[in-house]
Amino acid sequence: LMTATAVLALTATAQTAAAACDDGEMVIKFSHVTNTDRHPKGIAASLLQERVNEEMNGTACMEVFPNSTLYNDDQVLEAMLQGDVQLAAPSLSKFEQFTKVFRIFDLPFMFRDIDAVDAFQTSEAGQAMKESMTRRGLLGLQFWHNGVTQISANKPLISPEDAQGLKFRVQPSEVLKANMEALGASPQPMAFSEVYGALQTGVVDGQENTWSNIYGQKFFEVQDGITETNHGVIDYLLVTSTDWWDSLDPAVRDQLATIIEEVTLARNAESFAVNEEAKQAIIDAGGVVRELTPEQRQAWVDAMKPVWDQFVDDVGQENIDAAQAINA
Ligand code: LMR
Repeated sequence: LMTATAVLALTATAQTAAAACDDGEMVIKFSHVTNTDRHPKGIAASLLQERVNEEMNGTACMEVFPNSTLYNDDQVLEAMLQGDVQLAAPSLSKFEQFTKVFRIFDLPFMFRDIDAVDAFQTSEAGQAMKESMTRRGLLGLQFWHNGVTQISANKPLISPEDAQGLKFRVQPSEVLKANMEALGASPQPMAFSEVYGALQTGVVDGQENTWSNIYGQKFFEVQDGITETNHGVIDYLLVTSTDWWDSLDPAVRDQLATIIEEVTLARNAESFAVNEEAKQAIIDAGGVVRELTPEQRQAWVDAMKPVWDQFVDDVGQENIDAAQAINA
């Protein structure tokens, strides 16, 4: 249900965005699901919009729709194939219907930190992943960083046994489901926009996400506390439709690709800092953050890491080895 204020805000956003486009300009719609402040993706999308509208004025015009105001992640790729939206940046956990190559990013404790994720994505194997869905009409333009994930519930989570029997919202990914099952918990896939309400009403007991998402969606308000596990990764693929991309005038496409690359490099470099700010903002707002001792964290590693074995065929041992070499 949308409140009257939300409807007004949505109308205002749509009007502001529409007002920026002049007759004859190519309209580029970019739909995403997060907030815009203190969020790596939100900030990057806004910066991209700003630069396109300034530097490509008269040629192209970008309208960014944040906060799931246009599509949820389970709708946006279909809408893109229909030509209703040109850019999106779903997390790598949300491409299961198109490819399994991104499953490596959902394996628990696979990457030491976001720099390791960056190094893997920049490698030849990582770059090839951007083109893993072209046959299905989707082209990855760039990887965008969010950060590493933390876990929260309606009770303190210190040892992995504390998660046993609880229901956790997960993104729609087989690996993320298996991770929760390894903890003896019950995974509940659900759209991002529904998580706050589900936590509040007790439809689920807990969730896993980055500091910026926990802050942006205010999950900390409806959870006992957040445990700093750094167990997973939320990263994005800035994705477009191959049909649309190929239809662009080459000079226009080059200019757009260059702006996108510059925005990517600038904002990816800040993603860690943005998440740290969000973490501090959670604490400042009275949210509880629980740190683990190395021994306590190791117990989570021991409980979850066996999931790697279940997905080694999808992910490829050579990719796991490459990720581990980067960590070392
Ligand atoms: C989620 O669904 O939890 C995330 O993928 C949301 C996002 O875009 O960061």
